[in-house]
Amino acid sequence: MSNFKDILNKDNLTKQDLVCMLNAEGKNRDLLHRKSKEITKKFTTNKVYLRGLIEYSNVCVKDCLYCGIRKSNTQQKRYTISDSEVLNCAQYALENNYGSIVLQAGERTDKPFISKITTLLNEINKLSKGKLGITISLGEQTLEVYKEWFDAGAHRYLLRIETSNSELYKNLHPKNRMHNFQHRIDALNNIRLAGFKLGTGVMIGLPNQTIENLADDLLFMKAMNVDMVGMGPYIEHQHTPLFNDKNLLASKQKRLALSYNMIACLRILMKDINIAATTALQAIDNFGREKAIKIGANVLMPNITPGSFRDNYKLYEDKPCTNENASDCNTCIDVRMNMIGSEVGYNEWGDSKHFFKNKKQLSSS
Ligand code: 5AD
Ligand code: FES
Repeated sequence: MSNFKDILNKDNLTKQDLVCMLNAEGKNRDLLHRKSKEITKKFTTNKVYLRGLIEYSNVCVKDCLYCGIRKSNTQQKRYTISDSEVLNCAQYALENNYGSIVLQAGERTDKPFISKITTLLNEINKLSKGKLGITISLGEQTLEVYKEWFDAGAHRYLLRIETSNSELYKNLHPKNRMHNFQHRIDALNNIRLAGFKLGTGVMIGLPNQTIENLADDLLFMKAMNVDMVGMGPYIEHQHTPLFNDKNLLASKQKRLALSYNMIACLRILMKDINIAATTALQAIDNFGREKAIKIGANVLMPNITPGSFRDNYKLYEDKPCTNENASDCNTCIDVRMNMIGSEVGYNEWGDSKHFFKNKKQLSSS
């Protein structure tokens, strides 16, 4: 058996290597995180890019067993932000030099919704004269819809696979056509086909999820050749069916530690992609996102949703900053990033180097 340092320096990491890395504690964990930071410095621009997050609507037609905004959670008040409020958010991001926004919502596939998003994308582009990068995270759609939204000016798409293990996926979703693992994979392929930079991600510390499953998740992201990843700890929500399995969960601190190790492993495996420091990390540790950035994440998504709606986009419990406004976030970003000595890439789209390298390779082959 090779020693831990040798594993970290391997060019081709196997599933077994990743399992060993994910399990790292104590000195080995320090080595893992240090290696990841080294690679971040060498293979990314070493800046942290901002994406102003607009949680557009919590109306969702799906019923994922883990998610607080699932259709069947009747205790959840529903909202959709007005067009003018969305445009105000975009204006806010522009004025505060964020460079990019993310438009995220529960899943809807009806025509009025699809057209509304197209209109909003066009309007945001007009408002910013194409200056704001636009990521969308609007679930599973047809190739046609993905193309429509790409043509309207969005250029990055986030769709988490949640888990790359089809059996585990089945346990996290109702058993029907709307929640089908293969459809999710097809959607990821269609997103890329439509022209988007592709982002995916998983939840970490799910009931019945093993370290081997997580190693497979990392290899899945590599095989999908994604440009960006957002992943974080699973956090139980009391008004969801999966809450019943809470006795199977590791402690929140363990899920958090595992999330940091996942970020480090992913950075070592896919050196030049964008990795987000997700909000779920902050739900467990107030400085969770900063720690993730210190380890290897390079994207931060400050919430710029108007304060009055925030409390209702509750995917999980203890979601942070739900009683704040965008301007509070602004001061907070500077303070927090200064504290860890990270440079913010203001006014930049901050696409991953990975995407451009890939494109170059494709056009020269
Ligand atoms: N815990 C952690 N993350 C969650 N998400 C949804 N519900 C939870 C939860 N209970 C994540 C999913 C989804 C993203 C928008 O939020 O990964 O893709
Ligand atoms: Fe809305 Fe899963 S509950 S997409």
